[in-house]
Amino acid sequence: MRIDVVSIFPEYLAALDLSLIGKARQDGVLDVRVHDLRTFTTDRHRTVDDTPYGGGAGMVMKAEPWAQALESVLTEAPASQHRPTLIVPSPAGAVFDQAMAHELAGLEHLVFACGRYEGIDERAIDWARDGFDVRPVSLGDYVLNGGEVAVLAMVEAVGRLIPGVVGNPESLVEESHADGLLEYPVYTKPSSWRGRDIPEVLLSGNHARIARWRRMEQFRRTADRRPDLLGDIDATSLPAADLKA
Ligand code: ADE
Repeated sequence: MRIDVVSIFPEYLAALDLSLIGKARQDGVLDVRVHDLRTFTTDRHRTVDDTPYGGGAGMVMKAEPWAQALESVLTEAPASQHRPTLIVPSPAGAVFDQAMAHELAGLEHLVFACGRYEGIDERAIDWARDGFDVRPVSLGDYVLNGGEVAVLAMVEAVGRLIPGVVGNPESLVEESHADGLLEYPVYTKPSSWRGRDIPEVLLSGNHARIARWRRMEQFRRTADRRPDLLGDIDATSLPAADLKA
């Protein structure tokens, strides 16, 4: 997968050199390129923002540097049958979730446009629809100072779903949100720690019983912490036996 990120703070994206995403880049599984938006300005002060029409607080990112940057990304992009997807992180976007991460992981080329200040001149976003599949995406219902932190989160969530990025693909199966529920609690040695014992079932060696217990814990935890998620779950996916376990 090819990923381009355009930002006025390219240093923010240095974290993409680390850990599993950094390793995937080294291995050639992910081709990530970070671009400095100011490179695409033409004035002496490398201006990327100006005051908003209609008044109001803060500054708005100018359209032209964005058009120049995105044209450059399109020119450099490897030939593909599909238009790249342009993700514009914004608190005014559709909320990112695991289903969206899976959908994006199936695409060939993602481009992230990191806005700052009050956002990007809307005409640049409309203009970009000619060359990109444009998607404003929010990390959640809160406001960040810019898109960079959201991009770090999205690239990690999407990147780890690409085959070859996470060493053991099994670990993607039983994690939170994989099946619409939160994951069950986990424990490691010692079995007794500071007076706290692990649930006895985990020492039973009875795999069916352990599987039932884990499923039950997933429901219990989801009902407690995220009851909103249970609305999407088919209640029949909870085997009757689980209730008795
Ligand atoms: N930029 C500012 N706030 C954001 C959010 N909640 N999600 C994505 N990008 C943002």
